[in-house]
Amino acid sequence: MRIAIIGTGKVGSALGARLTTAGHDVAYGSRTPGNRPGPVSHTEAVRGAELVITAIPGTDVVPTLEKIGEDLLADRIVLDPSAALTPELALAYPNDSVAQRVQSRFPRARVVKALNTMNFSIMIDPLASLPHATVFVSGDDDNAKRAVKGLLADLGWPTEAILDLGDVSTATATEHAAPLFFATHRALQTLRFAIAIAR
Ligand SMILES: NC(=O)c1ccc[n+]([C@@H]2O[C@H](COP(=O)([O-])OP(=O)(O)OC[C@H]3O[C@@H](n4cnc5c(N)ncnc54)[C@H](OP(=O)(O)O)[C@@H]3O)[C@@H](O)[C@H]2O)c1
Repeated sequence: MRIAIIGTGKVGSALGARLTTAGHDVAYGSRTPGNRPGPVSHTEAVRGAELVITAIPGTDVVPTLEKIGEDLLADRIVLDPSAALTPELALAYPNDSVAQRVQSRFPRARVVKALNTMNFSIMIDPLASLPHATVFVSGDDDNAKRAVKGLLADLGWPTEAILDLGDVSTATATEHAAPLFFATHRALQTLRFAIAIAR
């Protein structure tokens, strides 16, 4: 699959490397594409892609996609792993979610929330690190969610670890798990953990 990754930080680089190894055609979109070899502009990365990963600060996702433009995003799957936080690491959107805001602003895009409840090192290597971890999926479009579940499998997530919560409004539940994530990190003093649903 042709994938555009917006943002060249920890999440973007980790997902890009792993998805490239799995055989996907990955283009990185950066605000500063000329600074180093590899990344291109956001628009150039998205132009040839079927799926766009928004690996940037959650509060920057809608403004960044606005610049890319709704016509270019039409029919694209937008996989959003972001968290929208204040500088104090509180919830920036206490009443909704990045994913809902993107879906509402870009109705022709097909938004899927996933991978936002764990550290990037777990996203790309779940079985070796935490075999019972859960990865949540939220989105309105079943075909888009099917494609994202395929990518999750390519990242190493077993089918039984993937929990489809339902439509895009359920992204609020996982985005609002951020305080639980930070409190757990403080308590355990490690990032090698993930949320697991016991059933
Ligand atoms: N780190 C984790 O383990 C983790 C886990 C779960 C969720 N998340 C979420 O995933 C997203 C990415 O996290 P990260 O850890 O990869 O962050 P990061 O290492 O700080 O990288 C974020 C990247 O976003 C781009 N960026 C920064 N400011 C921007 C802005 N104002 N507008 C547009 N792009 C901007 C930059 O790429 P360019 O300079 O190339 O433009 C930057 O390298 C965040 O929403 C984070 O909350 C992270």
